[in-house]
Amino acid sequence: MGARLVVLASGEGTNLQALIDACRDAAYGAQVVAVGADRAGINALNRATQAGIETFTVCLKDHKTREDWDLALTRATQAHAPDLVVLAGFMKLVGQTFLDAFGGRCVNTHPALLPSFPGAHAVRDALAHGVKVTGCTVLLVDEGVDAGPIVAQASVQVNDDDDEPALHERIKVAERALLVQTVGRMVRDGWTVDGRKVRIGS
Ligand code: GRF
Repeated sequence: MGARLVVLASGEGTNLQALIDACRDAAYGAQVVAVGADRAGINALNRATQAGIETFTVCLKDHKTREDWDLALTRATQAHAPDLVVLAGFMKLVGQTFLDAFGGRCVNTHPALLPSFPGAHAVRDALAHGVKVTGCTVLLVDEGVDAGPIVAQASVQVNDDDDEPALHERIKVAERALLVQTVGRMVRDGWTVDGRKVRIGS
């Protein structure tokens, strides 16, 4: 059946969809066994349901503290015994309990070339800075904000007439391809982390 992926998302879920589509080929080496969200009513959950994948939703507002929320998210994720957790547009920072359970085997996708432009407004910030090249990063999740070891990156040219939606759409095309390629290589070939350096394969 291949590696078990749990994907966490907060929005449209096009990165999730790219992973679901890739997993249809057994040679890809993975299956999305569950999709988790921090809010109800998002398209990512619809995409999962349509693909016959189990879903769970763990809302911050339903928990007394952020730690309680993090514990509930950890348990809900653990229930699906993932080999790798993928944060695909998941717009919350996971906490220490989650990292204790999945640290080193949890990746995030970010729409900028880290370490430039971390945070929730990466595309806007890159445009405002006037960079000519931006892109996307797949990184291992640690306690920092978009600060973990970098697994893979792809670049995207910024056009003179780009606004945030136009640039983000072009980044997302590159991002989906990079995420699918990187997750596939990780599950098929394994990976090692030496300080900040991630190497896929032996
Ligand atoms: C992606 O660009 C992700 O990096 C960012 O939000 C976007 C999510 O897109 N944080 P989608 O929900 O996968 O379509």
